[in-house]
Amino acid sequence: MKVHGTKINPMSSPSQQWNSELYQTSHSFVWQYGRDLLALLDAKPGERVLDVGCGTGQLTAEVAQSGTDVVGIDSSPEMIQSARANFRHLRFELFDVASLPYEAEFDAVISNAALHWVRDQRGAISSIARALKPGGRLVFEMGGYGNLRRVLESSYRALTSLGVPDPEKLVTWYFPSIGEYASLLESRAFLVNFAVLFERPTNLEGGEDGFAKWIDMFGKFATSAVSPEQHETLVRRWEEFARPAMFRHGVWTIDYKRLRMLVTKK
Ligand code: BEZ
Repeated sequence: MKVHGTKINPMSSPSQQWNSELYQTSHSFVWQYGRDLLALLDAKPGERVLDVGCGTGQLTAEVAQSGTDVVGIDSSPEMIQSARANFRHLRFELFDVASLPYEAEFDAVISNAALHWVRDQRGAISSIARALKPGGRLVFEMGGYGNLRRVLESSYRALTSLGVPDPEKLVTWYFPSIGEYASLLESRAFLVNFAVLFERPTNLEGGEDGFAKWIDMFGKFATSAVSPEQHETLVRRWEEFARPAMFRHGVWTIDYKRLRMLVTKK
């Protein structure tokens, strides 16, 4: 089976600089939606839990409120610095998910909106499996098959109009179907207990400027393919092509599609 995604998370992309301030303010929906995962995690007091791709630490802190012993990891130094400043009493470590140093230490792993950035999917899943105790659970949500279809199609049109060849090749996020990811997990010591792929259209803050801000935070795959002089034109054209499907009554809506799963280590 071919794993066609690449680019890594706040986790291990040296080329992705993260603006942790923008992440936890204008894009707070990323971690706020992560709260939905907590019910699925069903953490018990005293359990050891690992939060993979913890970002600025808000979800990690909510996990800790269940009385768990929680560690957050991320491969972005900016995110880990913010997480430590936000929650001084919690533990945050700078690690790549594909090379975690843990051996059968955790009862559960939680991950929200992070795994689609991971370049080495097989390595990440094996590394998470190693970190879990036998029977331990992994609960996660990530971009699933069809995620950002409108965002990406409009970016391709804008990039093509500026002479960028094969714009699809610039995108390295991995948005798998249930079947594809279940196979990958099952080949790496996991059993699938629950899986769902669902649409989550998400309204952006900022009115007319909302999509430009989203592009500023997440659109580097496209903006880094043009010259600084073309940057503004790219953003304006991207907005123009996206507008009919994504802008209504003064609000931009992003077409997120989520893959949510609960799997246990055999
Ligand atoms: C996501 O959460 O699905 C996502 C967010 C930003 C870029 C790519 C994917």
